[in-house]
Amino acid sequence: MIVLGIESSCDDTGVALVNDKKEILGEALQSQEEQKQYGGVVPEIAARAHLEHIDELVSLCFKRAKLSLSDVDAIAASSGPGLIGGVVVGVMTAKSLALALNKPFVALNHLEGHALCARLSNEVEFPYLLLLVSGGHCQILVVKNVGEYERLGTTIDDAAGEAFDKVAKMLGLGYPGGPMIEKLASMGNEKRFSLPRPLLGSNDCNLSFSGLKTAVRKLIESYSPDGDIKNADLPKEDVNDICACFQATATDCLVRKLERAIKYFKQKYPNGHHLVVSGGVAANGYLREKLKNLGEKYNLEFAAPPIKFCTDNGVMVAWAGLERYRLGLTNSLDFKPRPRWPLDENAPKAAGAGGVKA
Ligand code: KG4
Ligand code: ZN
Repeated sequence: MIVLGIESSCDDTGVALVNDKKEILGEALQSQEEQKQYGGVVPEIAARAHLEHIDELVSLCFKRAKLSLSDVDAIAASSGPGLIGGVVVGVMTAKSLALALNKPFVALNHLEGHALCARLSNEVEFPYLLLLVSGGHCQILVVKNVGEYERLGTTIDDAAGEAFDKVAKMLGLGYPGGPMIEKLASMGNEKRFSLPRPLLGSNDCNLSFSGLKTAVRKLIESYSPDGDIKNADLPKEDVNDICACFQATATDCLVRKLERAIKYFKQKYPNGHHLVVSGGVAANGYLREKLKNLGEKYNLEFAAPPIKFCTDNGVMVAWAGLERYRLGLTNSLDFKPRPRWPLDENAPKAAGAGGVKA
């Protein structure tokens, strides 16, 4: 069984072929350089760039796999949530191929791509506890099965990756910010500045990064003669220390809320044995290390996709598409791409997660 996956929901155009023996047969990925000069993703530019690259990436992927279009059993595309112009490009490509080849189409929720990705590289059984941290999303979920999620907590403002990107922008470190912050943080002193940990005292699994981001802004402003962040004169060492303190604080917020979620998870799902992290921020080595320790503390096995499959890619779409296809979960060609699409939308409301006593 071979599934083609197409990703185009943000600023990465990804195509991959995966089979049910968990082999990645072919892969092609283009991360948009176009966005770097803007310090973020411009939706219209992203959509045009997907359109420009997608056909050649599909061809390249098949060439690398030494397969032809007719070898494919199903075609999956990230069909939301995301920047709709880009999503439409991937979905139309997938639908056209499905129609021409007379093969099933899977309209994949992009978040499900992140959520199931760790099952490709690791032996992770359902149910498992998942921290999904990306540029657009930050959620703590129980993955009960393919298509079955219980959301325990979410950010009430910025996503974790968004906070990394915004802090990096304030420090003039370019986009995307996460990798650069991680690099500089490794040379900094994470104890130098004390930063706020919003929502830590709340009796739920929700997160907030907006106050932390504002505190970093104020700190940077204090280096400016006129209080304007653009005129801040920061010695290199202080930039490293700010990165280290921000990364440590953001990670601590995630770890502390996950700790609360773990207690709920262990109680409600005693047959669950894994703690998984996925999404772009899961590429962060500091966070991975802290989560590994957290798993050990609570006797949960820690798992995460390989670093290169944490940020958006076609492999996670092909794999999650395969997981759906083999359960018969395909979609008709009139599926409408969705800018918003909560992963747990059909699930009953999580009863009790908010009231877990730590
Ligand atoms: O999953 P992803 O590629 O796109 C979304 O679905 O949003 O995640 C991108 C996010 C960006 O915010 C980026 O700064 C962050 O992941 N990121 C990282 C690292 N690598 C990527 N954040 C922290 N540390 C990293 N090493
Ligand atoms: Zn993503």
